[in-house]
Amino acid sequence: DKPAVLVARKVFPEVVQRLAQHFEVEDNPEDHIHSPEELTARLQGKAGAFVTLSERIDAALLDAHPQLRAVCNMAVGYNNIDVAACSARGVLVSNTPDVLTETTADFGFALMMATARRITESERFLREGRWDRWAYDMFAGSDIHGATLGILGMGRIGQGIARRGALGFGMKVVYHNRSRLPAEQEAPLGARYVDKETLLRESDHLVVVVPYAPATHHSIGAAELARMKPTATLTNIARGGVVDDAALAQALREGRIAAAGLDVFEGEPRVHPALLALRNVVLTPHIASATVATRRAMADLAADNLIAALTGGVPPTPVNPQVLAR
Ligand code: GLV
Ligand code: GLV
Repeated sequence: DKPAVLVARKVFPEVVQRLAQHFEVEDNPEDHIHSPEELTARLQGKAGAFVTLSERIDAALLDAHPQLRAVCNMAVGYNNIDVAACSARGVLVSNTPDVLTETTADFGFALMMATARRITESERFLREGRWDRWAYDMFAGSDIHGATLGILGMGRIGQGIARRGALGFGMKVVYHNRSRLPAEQEAPLGARYVDKETLLRESDHLVVVVPYAPATHHSIGAAELARMKPTATLTNIARGGVVDDAALAQALREGRIAAAGLDVFEGEPRVHPALLALRNVVLTPHIASATVATRRAMADLAADNLIAALTGGVPPTPVNPQVLAR
């Protein structure tokens, strides 16, 4: 008999079909967002779950489903999953690193550029029919080339952004991270490891790419924003909660930094009303990895993990590989 799995959200039909070769699949072609009660009901009898950031997997849910053996997230970040609780119960967790690195770095760079060069603000102006003359300072922003690019969180995506800045746009790169990169990775980027204080002070364009964890909650808040240049931009493609959105809105309103580009929000899909009211922010709905090819690669990788985990194979990208050793 095939094991039963839940595919929690709508995904590529081809990927569901591939899973159906191995499993009894309960999928969600209507793309309904499950309440916690609905999610636990649908996990009844399931050995595995293909999930996304919209599903919260916590200890209570795991305790209700002792038959569950694998939770495969279609995302690189996994702050929606209590990994310690999964590990304690022998449940494998996987994510989708690497396949989205370059796509997400492209987007981070694009969002930073749109923010610095006021792309969406000026487009709104044009569409509103307000363009009736030239003016010397109309939508004058700040340069990318030659500016100092600051990166908070120098993982794979952070390094991808640094590479674009250094090699493509002649930017100076400074970064802060839990650990320093090996010299052979820093050298081609001319990247300089600095403390957080220096990062905030020197960055013309600061991009935040740290994973969300209690230790990174509000890594950028009022105190940090106060240390930045008044001409600086801030771009967040990490997670809502890494930046204090209320403090950011206030800093933007008071001109303590120039502009922000945000793809992720505290409490998304809700967006802080103070941010919505500002003109100097570029706001996108958590789409940094959203290209057709990359979303397909992420779905395939999540499926590869689920198939391997439940058929005696070796999952390619486990988050808690220690579970496999048991
Ligand atoms: C998206 O935010 C991801 O973690 O892949
Ligand atoms: C995610 O892949 C990261 O390390 O930035």
